Amino acid sequence: MTLILGIETSCDETAAAVVADGREIKSSVVASQVDIHRRYGGVFPEVASRQHVLSILPVIDQALHEAGIVSGEEGGPSLAEQGIAAVAVTYGPGLAGSLLVGVNAAKGLAWGQGLPLIGVNHIEAHIYGNWLVDGPPPEFPLVCLVVSGGHTELIQMADHGQYRRLGGTLDDAAGEAFDKVGRLLGLPYPGGPSIQEAARDGNPEAFKLPRAWLPGTHDFSFSGLKTAVLHAVQKFVPRDDMRSSAQGPTVVRELPVADLAASFQAAVVDVLVEKACQAAEEFGARTLLLAGGVAANELLRAEIQRRCPVPVRYPPLSLCTDNAAMIASAGYFNFQAGRQAGWDLDVLPNLKLIA
Ligand code: KG4
Ligand code: ZN
Repeated sequence: MTLILGIETSCDETAAAVVADGREIKSSVVASQVDIHRRYGGVFPEVASRQHVLSILPVIDQALHEAGIVSGEEGGPSLAEQGIAAVAVTYGPGLAGSLLVGVNAAKGLAWGQGLPLIGVNHIEAHIYGNWLVDGPPPEFPLVCLVVSGGHTELIQMADHGQYRRLGGTLDDAAGEAFDKVGRLLGLPYPGGPSIQEAARDGNPEAFKLPRAWLPGTHDFSFSGLKTAVLHAVQKFVPRDDMRSSAQGPTVVRELPVADLAASFQAAVVDVLVEKACQAAEEFGARTLLLAGGVAANELLRAEIQRRCPVPVRYPPLSLCTDNAAMIASAGYFNFQAGRQAGWDLDVLPNLKLIA
């Protein structure tokens, strides 16, 4: 059994996890900063890195403890003696200041404990969230739809570590569109879960919103949809703005948040599902994977299962959004392939999956 300690600090979650053989979670701890960033309506990078500094050591300690490992203090057994084979850490893409905290913690720990260091690409790790599900592993060749706050990409994977980019967003990422539209509708950050919640009481056909099909490509575009929601919102005057005038109160129509949320969500899901299924069929995929924070969306999960001719898999909810178990899993497969980082490993905020 090969145990990997994974560390993740690319955005606003400080996370550490211990995973066996890339598939079995021994522990997974996530300290979310979402409550701190909510007041800014998005992630405040400077605040995020300071918070990572405060949380990183307690989070690593807790992950080791929950996996039944003592934290390698002087006099006690080392991490290697307790079965940890390597330390894997996200080095990009993400916020530079946030990534630095995880990378430096991982370097210090690996150096001090005489363990190999593995640099993990955050996007690759999201895909490997699908290896943490019980049962047989996903079958190659596969197509993966990566949909997160920063990325919307269709990736073909022939085998471990073998990626080909089929297409991606030309403007906003799907999660970014959810977050921006959430703000337009006055919903709390992050927009994805808030829109999903608001949409429960809404009619997805209430507003005819545009879908960018971009035929003949595997690309996406969400900026036109976002603008269409903005224009729809502008036709309504929020209650707070109601003013009396000599002619009487301004005509006020309350913003139909539920209908707008449902119509927006339906438009995003429609395009994601259609284009992902098309790609899976075209490239002869044996599995279609969903990955990234937006893969937590209930409608997306249900519709892709319903409409895709190819078997679909997605991680459980807790492994869709940022966590370190997926870092440890991707780290394991990189370790198996002999890919190790040097002590000069630096953060790469714009790291791509395929150069
Ligand atoms: O993967 P992730 O945690 O961080 C990045 O790597 O970006 O993804 C966060 C994104 C946010 O944009 C958030 O609004 C979105 O995932 N998200 C959702 C849902 N839960 C999280 N979007 C739609 N529906 C959800 N249920
Ligand atoms: Zn992520």
